[in-house]
Amino acid sequence: MIVLKNEREQEGMRAAGVVAATVLHEVAAFIAPGVTTREVDQFAAERIKLHGARSAFLGYKKYPCYLCISVNEEVVHGIAGERRLQFGDIVSLDVGVCYRGFIGDNALTVPVGGCSPLAQKLIDVTERSLYEGIAQAVPGNRVVDISRSVQQFVESHGFSVVREFVGHGVGRTMHEEPQVPNYVDGKSSPRLRPGMTLAIEPMVNAGKPAVRVLGDGWTVVSQDGLPSAHFEHTVLITEGEPEILTCHQQMSAPLPA
Ligand code: MF3
Ligand code: CO
Repeated sequence: MIVLKNEREQEGMRAAGVVAATVLHEVAAFIAPGVTTREVDQFAAERIKLHGARSAFLGYKKYPCYLCISVNEEVVHGIAGERRLQFGDIVSLDVGVCYRGFIGDNALTVPVGGCSPLAQKLIDVTERSLYEGIAQAVPGNRVVDISRSVQQFVESHGFSVVREFVGHGVGRTMHEEPQVPNYVDGKSSPRLRPGMTLAIEPMVNAGKPAVRVLGDGWTVVSQDGLPSAHFEHTVLITEGEPEILTCHQQMSAPLPA
């Protein structure tokens, strides 16, 4: 069953989206060479609490951290620990919060200080593929139109989309119907309707699409060891243009007099 959100619920989703996005960008600004992934997780915990929210991930199927932090060939669901981030790494940060009963879910990948041109291209293509997908999130289209547009964009740049993990409906719970794959799977695909809220989240490998899960039971890595990137927004389907709920307001510098 796909839950359509009424006006009040949409307001709740907007508030959760702003908190999730604000925390994500605060955490991204904390990333620097020499910082351990556990310090990043602790920082995320502080920011989430300060905004009056709670982590949607901590405790989910016994997930042990406040956010997911995935480095280089790690695709998603990386677990924080003693690893120190190094210049040249790329780090995927996934932040999901529950705020006043609603969930906001978003992710991005950033270089640690700087990274190789290939890694930067991977990051750019993954982010742009997310916006290609979002552009299809309009009523009348089906979920598969999002999937197709992400996949075509990614593959046209020589990268590959991960099949085993997909985007999802999101609302009062983190994972609702429908699934939102980043590739065309040939299954029947629901029509998009105003009031649907979707987490669209391309996971893109620089090499082959195959992934495996490490012995910790969580960390997903590319099988070929090549880097991977991940971007995610929570999006509301409206009568018109899609509304990105995980937006953060950047304070702008005052205009010169
Ligand atoms: N954004 C991911 C998802 O929607 C994060 C889940 S991490 C978990 O599936 F730990 F909570 F599983
Ligand atoms: Co998600």
